[in-house]
Amino acid sequence: MKNAQLILDLENTIENIPDFPKPGIQFKDITPIFLNPKLYEDVIADLANFSRGKVDAVCGIESRGYLFGIAVAVALEVPFVLIRKAGKLPPPFVGVKYDLEYGSAEIEMRTGQIKPGQRILIHDDLLATGGTTEAAARLVEKQGATVSQFSFLIGLQDLHGEERLRQFDADVYTILDYK
Ligand code: PRP
Ligand code: MG
Repeated sequence: MKNAQLILDLENTIENIPDFPKPGIQFKDITPIFLNPKLYEDVIADLANFSRGKVDAVCGIESRGYLFGIAVAVALEVPFVLIRKAGKLPPPFVGVKYDLEYGSAEIEMRTGQIKPGQRILIHDDLLATGGTTEAAARLVEKQGATVSQFSFLIGLQDLHGEERLRQFDADVYTILDYK
């Protein structure tokens, strides 16, 4: 059962910016959430409720996945591991390349920060096509851990990211969905 009051509060707080960063894109600006500490706490409590007792570590995706992911890990009293865009982490690290609409990208994680057999929550602010999250899940699996859960504040339903994540046999939670 989703938290109806939290959904309403987020709908009233997140700003829709038309045609940013490109014509036709409806950008969801989450920055007003940080102006409201009580709402931020409610988001963290909701995300932590979804994952409590079910994961051994949280992986957050640079950069907006850090804004909530670290606080969720602290609430759950489990480690937080940073997944970074390529070229930022010192060695040793592991990486996964993935395709973008034009070209490709790569994400990386320090080797050994997650352990084989651990149950992992992958967290990000937004699920769009699922390309970034799919790559993050491959990175986790490459190190012998299991992706048990994915959580997001926002899911863009029309882009079918949730379907793309089905291959991982993990629970997917989005607090708020947009068509
Ligand atoms: C955005 C968003 C997700 C990703 C979702 O991040 O924060 O991480 O895109 O898109 P996808 O599901 O189609 O992969 P962005 O790359 O804009 O960077 P940022 O978090 O550093 O702002
Ligand atoms: Mg991002």
